[in-house]
Amino acid sequence: MDIQVLVAYATKYGATTEIAEKIGQVLRQAGLPTDVLPVDRIKDPTPYKAIVLGSAVYTGQWRKEAAKFLQANETLLAERQVWLFSSGPTGQGDPVELLKDWRLPKSLQPIADRIRPRDIAVFHGNVDLKKLNFIEKEMLKTAKALSGDFRDWNAISAWAGTIVDDLLREAV
Ligand SMILES: Cc1cc2nc3c(=O)[nH]c(=O)nc-3n(C[C@H](O)[C@H](O)[C@H](O)COP(=O)(O)O)c2cc1C
Repeated sequence: MDIQVLVAYATKYGATTEIAEKIGQVLRQAGLPTDVLPVDRIKDPTPYKAIVLGSAVYTGQWRKEAAKFLQANETLLAERQVWLFSSGPTGQGDPVELLKDWRLPKSLQPIADRIRPRDIAVFHGNVDLKKLNFIEKEMLKTAKALSGDFRDWNAISAWAGTIVDDLLREAV
């Protein structure tokens, strides 16, 4: 298969790494050669025909390295098939509803409008209190956010499946 796929991610505590790896696993199982890499380790995204980019969300922002990648590679991304995702909300229910329709940091929306990604997903995240520093714990309390692992592996796999469908449909 001639479609080289990149799944690039930015994380602070590892939850988003595992989401990216799950997406990569689904793509590989479908026969798509896929690299899953932390976004700050990507030297040259040129060879990839399709790029999935995701970041953990902290106080409504993507991790700096993911935002930087999006900004620095806007022209290239506009010429590729692109999917974006955020890993964030904790709690039961539709993750986009939990975030009151938030999908992407406001500052990145104009770039996304120009890149025109195939989709922008929001996945439930994982807040592990043991890993957080004092300030982060206080922030969570103030925001009345729940801790725990709310990641929905079925939703993540299903979304990755839609990427497979799109890429394979266009490959024929
Ligand atoms: C201090 C703090 C602030 C957070 N702010 C947000 C937020 O604004 N929106 C959101 O959806 N999730 C927020 N989260 C939840 C994280 O995005 C979620 O736990 C994510 O899955 C962590 O990914 P990582 O382990 O890859 O860093 C916050 C978590 C912490 C600890």
